Amino acid sequence: MTRITDLIHSGDHVPGSPAPLTTPIFETTTYLFDSAADVIAYNEGRSDKYLYSRYGNPTVVAVEEALASLDRAERALLFSSGMAAIATTLIGSLCAGDEVLCAAAIYGGTLHLLHDLLSRFGITTRFVSLEELASLGPVFSERTRVVWFESPTNPTLRCVDIRTVAAACRARGVLSVLDNTFASPLNQDALALGVDLSMQSATKYLNGHSDVTAGVVSGPRQLLAPIERARRLLGTVLDPMPAFLLGRGLKTMAVRVARHNENALAVARALEGDARISRILHPGLASHPDHAIAAGQMSGFGGMVCIDLHGDYDRAVRAYDRLRVIKRAASLGGVESIVSLPVLTSQWGHSDEQLAAAGVTKGMLRLSIGLEDVADLLGDLAHALG
Ligand SMILES: Cc1ncc(COP(=O)(O)O)c(C=O)c1O
Repeated sequence: MTRITDLIHSGDHVPGSPAPLTTPIFETTTYLFDSAADVIAYNEGRSDKYLYSRYGNPTVVAVEEALASLDRAERALLFSSGMAAIATTLIGSLCAGDEVLCAAAIYGGTLHLLHDLLSRFGITTRFVSLEELASLGPVFSERTRVVWFESPTNPTLRCVDIRTVAAACRARGVLSVLDNTFASPLNQDALALGVDLSMQSATKYLNGHSDVTAGVVSGPRQLLAPIERARRLLGTVLDPMPAFLLGRGLKTMAVRVARHNENALAVARALEGDARISRILHPGLASHPDHAIAAGQMSGFGGMVCIDLHGDYDRAVRAYDRLRVIKRAASLGGVESIVSLPVLTSQWGHSDEQLAAAGVTKGMLRLSIGLEDVADLLGDLAHALG
C-alpha cells in the first residue's frame, strides 16, 4: 500500500474494546459492512449494525435512550433543533387537508411555521385561546388531526390542564402534542399526564449550558415511526458531536433543574408586590392565574419568570439595558440567567392582534433564572428597576 492510501485507511479502527465509561462520539457518517449478506441482513432488519448516520448513529441513539428513559417513553427521536423536531413531527404526522388546533399562546417559531409555511402545503391551523383549549369539545372539526400546545406557555407561563386536553384528544382519535420545553420532564411528566407525544427544545434545560441546538420528541414507537421516516427524508437528525454534549448535560440535569426551580421561586416571591411591576407571572406563585392547575400537574415550577412593567415598552427597555449579572440574550434554560424582551425576540413580528391573543405586552421582560447566587440576581434586578 502506498503512503497516500495508508493516510486514508490506517489508524481508523481501535482494536479490542477500551470499555470507555462514557459514550464516545462516533464521528462517522457511514459504517463498514463485511459482505453483501451483511447489507441484506441490515435491510431486512436482522442486524444491529448501522448504515448511515442520517438514519442512525450510536452516540445519537445512546442519548435518545437516555431521553426516552427521562420521559418514561418507549422511544425518543433527536433532531437538529427544537424547530426541526416540531416541523418533522407535523410533516410526518399530517397530510394536505388536515387541520391543526394550536394554542394562540405559543412560541413564535411554532406559530410562524404553522401560519406562514405549512399553510402553503394545505395544512391549515386554527389558533385557539387557552380557554377554548381547556374546553376542547366545541373547537374540534372533522379535519382536526393534531392538537399542539405548551404549558407553561412562552412567555406568559399560563398553564393548561394537560390531562383534560389529552383525554379530549384521545376520545376523538386526535394526536395531542405538548411542547414541554419550559417545564422539562423533571417538573412535568408529559406522557404520564396523557399526551401522545412530548416535544422539547433540547437547546434549553435538557442540555442546560447554552452551547447546543437540538430538539427531541418522545412517545410510543408506533406514533414515532412516521416521524422517523420524515426525519430520514428531511435530514433533520442531530449530529453526533452535539448529541454527545447534550448527553453530558443530561447527567447534571436533576441538580440544575432543582436549583432553577428554587432560584426562580425566590426571585418571583421577592418581586411580588413591587409597585414598579404591574404583573409578575410564575406558576409557583399563589397569585398566578393558573397556580392551581400548575400545582396539579407540576412537581416543580421551573426557572422562568415573566414581569410586566405596566405594559410600558420604554420602561422595559430601560430595565433591560441596566441589568449587569443577568445577560441580555434570547433563549432560556442555561446555567446563566438571561433576560429577553418578548416583543423583540420570541414574539418578534407578531401583529398587535397576535400579541393580544398570546397575552404578551410591550412592557414584558422574560427572565430565565439561572444557577447564580440568588442574592446577586435580586441585587441586579433592584438596580435595573431602580
Ligand atoms: C417553547 C419553545 N419551543 C420550541 C422552541 C424552538 O427550539 P429551537 O430554538 O431549539 O429550535 C423554542 C425556542 O426558544 C421554545 O421556546
